[in-house]
Amino acid sequence: MCGIVGYLGSRQAAPILLDGLSKLEYRGYDSAGVCVMSGGILRVAKAKGRLAVLNGLIDGGKAIEGTFGIGHTRWATHGAPSDVNSHPHMADAGKIAVVHNGIIENYMRLKQQLLKKGKHFQSETDTEVVANLIEYYYDKLKDFPRAVRRAVGQLEGSFALGILCQDLPGTMIAVKKESPLIFGYGDGENFIASDVPALLKHTRKIVHLLDGDIAIITKDSVQFYDAFFDRVERKIEYVDWDISAAEKCGFDHFMLKEIHEQPTAVKGTISPRIRDGRVVLDDIKISRDYLAGLKKIYIVACGSSYYVGCLGKYLLEKTCRIPVEPVLASEFRYSAPVMGEDTLVLVISQSGETADTKAAMMEAKRHHARTLAIVNVVGSAIALEADDVIYTWAGPEIAVATTKAFSTQLSVIYLITLYFAELLGTIEPAEYQSIVSEMTKLDQKISLCLTRENVAKIRYYAEQYFTARDAFFIGRNLDCGVCREGSLKLKEIAYIHSEAYAAGELKHGPISLIEDGTLVVAVCTVDALFDKAMSNLVEVQSRGAEVLGITTENREAEFKVKVPSVITVPETHPMLQPSLTIIPLQLFSYYVALLRNCDIDMPRNLAKSVTVE
Ligand code: G6P
Repeated sequence: MCGIVGYLGSRQAAPILLDGLSKLEYRGYDSAGVCVMSGGILRVAKAKGRLAVLNGLIDGGKAIEGTFGIGHTRWATHGAPSDVNSHPHMADAGKIAVVHNGIIENYMRLKQQLLKKGKHFQSETDTEVVANLIEYYYDKLKDFPRAVRRAVGQLEGSFALGILCQDLPGTMIAVKKESPLIFGYGDGENFIASDVPALLKHTRKIVHLLDGDIAIITKDSVQFYDAFFDRVERKIEYVDWDISAAEKCGFDHFMLKEIHEQPTAVKGTISPRIRDGRVVLDDIKISRDYLAGLKKIYIVACGSSYYVGCLGKYLLEKTCRIPVEPVLASEFRYSAPVMGEDTLVLVISQSGETADTKAAMMEAKRHHARTLAIVNVVGSAIALEADDVIYTWAGPEIAVATTKAFSTQLSVIYLITLYFAELLGTIEPAEYQSIVSEMTKLDQKISLCLTRENVAKIRYYAEQYFTARDAFFIGRNLDCGVCREGSLKLKEIAYIHSEAYAAGELKHGPISLIEDGTLVVAVCTVDALFDKAMSNLVEVQSRGAEVLGITTENREAEFKVKVPSVITVPETHPMLQPSLTIIPLQLFSYYVALLRNCDIDMPRNLAKSVTVE
């Protein structure tokens, strides 16, 4: 969601802020703005729409001169997307400017009090309340840091803030509570940002601010204070990302690039954890005794990460014989889940910042359940709070619609399944060996799904079906889990109404929606259920549906007898098949979205990292 960038140095700030914001576009936004100290006053330029609009407004930054400032991309929460609701927000008397990511839950109460004290408001946002509250205390205390501290003490909710004070040129204050914020060290210049890509051009030396932190920053210095306003040191980290990780590298979209990065990402996640034919999870401290006493595993996540959890249920239950329940994180806290020390809560999140997932995890901790997180972003909030973490080494994922993070999360589920099953003795050694052996080949088989020939075939089918108004994705067992993710991709990036159903469930209602020309994507790879799945498919075909089938190469001939439009994937161990089946579905959505002229990397209304509940 919202992106923050801040700069203090000797270079012109506005172009640096605009460039930094362009690297945060992936987070999702609907308006953008900058504030630069220019000729002794805080000057703000902001506009609804894409960054290009703001760029045009200030001539790529040249129209506002000044060497320090703050910038923001806004994803609307309080108040519709509009010029006036965009950040930065100025306080009433123009002394304080604020950019904010998060939500101030008590902003209405604070606004009422500030109105009574004579403050005026222009926007409907919670952020303008923060600016005015700081200005109110600044007028009383005549001390910028103390004013920020007093104001922050009254704020409830989540917030990352970048704050400037007109009377104190050359100083910026950054505050973090729950929403992510990093500080970047430069040479005679310093930065803040919501995420690493905004800083990569300038520095790799960073600090992840912790909850409650206040940083007082000049171009040559930074001082960190904790929630008690005691001076603290914060751990410096060095980002080792290749800059190409945040560039498109010749691909038309980040999504396409990330689809093609999947073999490398999956290999990078799996291979360090397989040694001498065994799964080794040094990352976690879970013992056989603990597992043997486990009554239940909850898998808690949102969006695609939740669908990984749905696949995880099949795999873990079947292989480890422990009851597993995937629950949407936004529902988990409010459904009074039965849990305690004998419950493991597996939390899955690419960003490690998703507010619902984090809140669900904290609820699990309150009930003394053990938490194991599968996270992509190192040092993110969920990674820091969980009892154990397994990182997916997918590298930065920029496209809003996840692909390589999904695949690496799934890879970690395989690793956990095998690791637990071996400890519990619920898997035959030969079966274990055969899965491990196939896992080491998974990256090569994903590459086979991505050959030029296969991509061309998927593109051909995208051309046949891109005008569809509705789509159904049907499959059984693991195929059903893959369908959920495939259907979500089509909704997210191609804006086609799409539903995923367990193929056997279709006849209990949704089949009434099938009419001439309805697109049905049918995934049939589970051997034991192949005939049943084919029957379901024929049921919809005979009611006029246009069926596009996905199956394994060895089933192609049999499949084609009934359904002529077929995309095939190589075979692997049945447990690992979803890693291959999902690839054509990702590509199909990508090409359908391309043909529909959709904004693939930044779909409307969506955010990459959803930091509000
Ligand atoms: C957003 C993204 C999805 C993602 C979900 C969960 O909705 O658009 O692609 O699956 O959040 O994100 P997380 O970072 O927790 O995996």
